Formats: sequence, C-alpha cells, structure tokens
Amino acid sequence: MLNGKKILVAVCGSIAAYKTAYLIRILIKKGASVRVVMTHGATEFISPLTLATLSKNECYTDYTNPSKTNWNNHVELALWADLMIVAPATAATISKMANGHCDNLLMAVYMSVRCPVIVAPAMDEDMWKHPSTRTNIQELQSFGNKIISVNSGELASGLTGEGRMEEPEEIVDFISESFRGSSNNSTPSSKLSGKKILITAGPTYEAIDPIRFVGNHSSGKMGVALAEKAYELGAEVQLILGPSKLDTSKGIKVTRVFSGKEMYAASKKHFSSTDICIFAAAVADYTPKIFSEQKIKKTEDEFALTLKKNVDIASEFGKIKKKDQLSVGFALETNDEIKNAKTKLARKNFDLLVLNSLNDKGAGFQFNTNKITILNRNNKITKFELKNKEEVAADILKSIEDYLK
Ligand code: CTP
Repeated sequence: MLNGKKILVAVCGSIAAYKTAYLIRILIKKGASVRVVMTHGATEFISPLTLATLSKNECYTDYTNPSKTNWNNHVELALWADLMIVAPATAATISKMANGHCDNLLMAVYMSVRCPVIVAPAMDEDMWKHPSTRTNIQELQSFGNKIISVNSGELASGLTGEGRMEEPEEIVDFISESFRGSSNNSTPSSKLSGKKILITAGPTYEAIDPIRFVGNHSSGKMGVALAEKAYELGAEVQLILGPSKLDTSKGIKVTRVFSGKEMYAASKKHFSSTDICIFAAAVADYTPKIFSEQKIKKTEDEFALTLKKNVDIASEFGKIKKKDQLSVGFALETNDEIKNAKTKLARKNFDLLVLNSLNDKGAGFQFNTNKITILNRNNKITKFELKNKEEVAADILKSIEDYLK
C-alpha cells in the first residue's frame, strides 16, 4: 500500500520521539521513501543519526548544514512529499502550526507543503485538554490537517491520563488509509473506487492425513499485492488466502483457508455480490481421493496415492457469472503460450487473462518479480516488462480499469 510513497516525517521534542524510530522502520519496510525533519528539541530525545540511518536519508534540523556551504531547501523538501506526518507533535509545534509561527526548518517545511498533513500529538493530559490546545487542534482541522487521537495511559510525567502518542503500527494504518481512493495526490480517483473485488490467492494444501498434504510453492505475493493495490485505489477487497505467511493492511477483509474445497466455499459466500473477481490462487489441480483420519504408517516399501480432480473455482464461477461481473484469471504456460492462454480465457469465461511464461526469467511464483502479458476478450494482447509484483499489480488493475471503460 505504501510502496513508492514519499513520506516526510516531522519530529518534535517529546519522549514519544523514540516511537518515531519504529514508525520510520515500518514505513521503510512497507516500501515508502522517508525523509526526516526534526526540531532542535527533538534531537535532545533521539539522535538525527538514528533516524537518518533508519530512513536511509539525511536528517534535516537546520536551514544550513554544519559546514554552512549550502542550505537545506525547505521548499524542495516540502514539494517532494506525498504526505507529511508530524509525530510526535508537541503542544508548542501544534500552536506554531495553527498560528503560522515559522521559526524553524520544520515549520518552514510545514508551511510549504501541498500534500496532506497528519498530526500525531503527544503531551501531558493537562496540556492536551488546555483550551489553547483545543483551539489549536480545531484550527489545524480547519486547514484540512488530520489529527490522530491520543491514547490514554501512563505519561512521561508519571501521571496517568490522555496524551500518549498513538502506537507506530496504528499511525502507519492511518497513513495507509489516507492514501486510499487516489493513485497519488495529483491523479483523480480510480474507477475501482467503491467496487467490490474478490481475490483468491496463495497455494492450497490438500490433506492426505492429519499430518501431510499435497501442495505447491506459491507464496501468495501476487494476489496480496493485487489486494493491497486494489484497496489503495478505494475498492472493497475480500481476499481468500490459502496457506501463506503474508500479512495484509488492516482494511482488507481476509478469509484464510487451507484446501481448494475451503477456498471455493469461502469464495462462494461473496461471489454473487462481487463486481470483479481475480483468480490469482495456485489451486492444487488434484486432491487425495481418500483422506485418512489417522496418520498413515510407513509399513510398505512403496506408497501410491490416488488423486482426484479438485474443484475448479474459476470454472465454476465462470458458469454462473452475470453480465455486469468481470473476472480475471491467471495462466502459467511453458509452450504455445498465447494459443493456450486464449483457450483458457474462453474455457473459464474470463474477461481478462494474465499470462506468465515459465520461459521468462524472473517470472513465476518463487520470485518478487513477474513478467506478464494480458489478453482480453476483445483479442487485445498487451505485453509488459519484468517488474516487481507491486508494479505488476498496478498494471493488472489499470488494465481492468481500461477494460471497464
Ligand atoms: N483456478 C481455479 N481453481 C482451480 C484451478 C485453477 O480457480 N482448481 C484458476 C487459477 O486461479 C487461475 C486459472 O484458474 O486463475 C488457471 O487455470 P489452470 O487451468 O489451472 O491453469 P494452469 O495452472 O496454467 O494449468 P493447466 O494449464 O494445467 O490447466
């Protein structure tokens, strides 16, 4: 969701600044680019070196650098950002923000940004509840700045009450949520905004006995990247995920399943109310004919397992799909790729088909990258370069948007 987003983290002088280190770490892990601006007060609580190391970027505290040979351009910093988060925001900085009191680099950056600003306050309860802070917070809200509510608990003063800065994970969710519905600041909202999208993803494990299963190496990365991107574009996403270690953003509804049969049952609950269905799961084509309730003992030298065809989820839904429902399938081919893909598109009643060729280096489910070709029902074929799976997800969703037109 935050992949490729440019986030400017502004840090003020509060003990909660230690949490900002975790905040930056999570943002970086989620693929965001982070730049940090700090007040002098903030440097008393956490070192600029710590935040520069975590953000993998220089950390700015002054208009000029120590050698005074060049200046830190606050306008350049401000215009670079897709989003500014002030965390922790002290009563003093909140007051300056509300009143345009521009006496440090952080304030000059704040007053120059054109992107959304989120404020995560941190202070003692009496300061938080003081009428001047209340007024300043309302003033910031009237500017369109978003405020993350403070938590209640033990405060640095030793008192207990309201004023603790929200936890880094929650701040990241708040940031992610604020990006929903538009690709970035300048582009209009997506055609997928408000659409109900059902995505199957990951492998399925077909149980042989209580201990063993037949499965495959799918990681679920492609399907999860699709879910994240669709959610970011404002869609209502229901992900049916086979056994996978991956986590998803808070707003994505996830049903975790084990077998193809379970994946089918879970998908069926949502299919009739779905606008768009994306079948990204690597469903095991076959499942053991007999499930042994007890662990199978190794008595013989050889062991034969009889498999039967698994339920074909995409085909089943292809049979009952309504005109206003759109479905997207995947195909992994090794030869006669386009010919086989066209046949699969027709056979499973897909509107679009995402083709992977095992002949392309870096494509397939063991990689973080993928190289795809998208075919649609109108015989349009579009080839894409090798890209990371987040970019591939964006290409697939863009193709769906174009097809909807
Ligand atoms: N699919 C499904 N349920 C299955 C098998 C596949 O929903 N039991 C979906 C996949 O999620 C994918 C598409 O159908 O969107 C792939 O079709 P499939 O026929 O399995 O293609 P391949 O995996 O390429 O296998 P084969 O060519 O052997 O048919």
